[in-house]
Amino acid sequence: MIYSSITGTGGYLPERIMDNAELEQMVDTSDEWIKSRTGVVKRHIAAEDEMTCDLAEHAARMAMEAASVSADDVDLIIVATTTPDLVFPSTACLLQERLGVRGSAAFDIQAVCTGFIYALSVADKFIKTGAANKALVVGAETLSRIIDWTDRDTCVLFGDGAGAVILEASEQPGIVSTFLHADGQHKDLLKVPVGISTNYAAIQEGSAYMQMQGNEVFKVAVNTLGRIVDETLAANNLEKKDIDWLVPHQANTRIISATAKKLDMPLDKVIVTIDQHGNTSAASVPLALDVAVRDGRIQRGDKLLLEAFGGGFTWGSALIDY
Ligand code: UT7
Repeated sequence: MIYSSITGTGGYLPERIMDNAELEQMVDTSDEWIKSRTGVVKRHIAAEDEMTCDLAEHAARMAMEAASVSADDVDLIIVATTTPDLVFPSTACLLQERLGVRGSAAFDIQAVCTGFIYALSVADKFIKTGAANKALVVGAETLSRIIDWTDRDTCVLFGDGAGAVILEASEQPGIVSTFLHADGQHKDLLKVPVGISTNYAAIQEGSAYMQMQGNEVFKVAVNTLGRIVDETLAANNLEKKDIDWLVPHQANTRIISATAKKLDMPLDKVIVTIDQHGNTSAASVPLALDVAVRDGRIQRGDKLLLEAFGGGFTWGSALIDY
């Protein structure tokens, strides 16, 4: 049996930092409200000439270096993003060219904040079936481009960034299980109501913005993530105490705390980056993973539970023997 295993991680945040004090100058909000209701202290914002692929390239190069993998070795590239550079080619194809990878499969996945979990699951299946050997899996976003900076309901939450992993075929797991779900019935609670075939003029006018009914999203997120924890533990015959680290999507510290509580897990076993990064959508889980691998909290042999929830709605988990 072939498994897939994470052999390197990388992460990148744009240089420019926007703190809560700056947002206080832009909308009717306060540092105290943002910190207490969301957990965000600051977020990074891409420069005008900095694209999603630029962020992805930094994170990808770090992951490849950590895994000692060269461009010639990579035979699959998947980029999870909701904010691609172009309608087409895919950001994965743009990234392939930048990295000097030739001939590999390369495609994007769009599952909003769950995008990285979806991409990891797909790459795992490519490797398990022998269709790929060394996969580069990236979550990268320039979400600041689809934020209405006059809308206090959304603009305080999000940030830009990229995270990446190299996934390689191995004799041991690795990725133990992944579960992916979606429920399109909730499509209107979190969306950008504009696209290529819908209201394209809004894109030309520069007003293609995210809309969110935060309170409703919050309730569904907490319940759904609780269920996916149960599903993952049950499917793998595990008990809550078997999980060493929770690496959650960074949407809101109150959502993260609710999932940790469900696992009877103290917060010091949860990787929290939302204070420093905000919600970076598809980049949030791989960025958090990279932070904790590099600062030494996550060690080889640890059992990790990655989870995410986002627009669609989509949600998913990955159980990993790191
Ligand atoms: O990543 C994918 C999925 N996204 C999420 O998971 C986000 C889920 N939702 C949330 O994280 C939370 O719902 C928010 C952080 C967005 C909002 O927190 P909340 O506790 O649900 O607040 P609320 O929407 O119920 O609003 C409470 C009050 C309202 O005022 P009133 O009606 O009580 O007078 C809002 O107008 O807070 C007000 N408010 C703000 N006040 C200051 C809303 N946004 C702000 C703001 N600053 N930025």
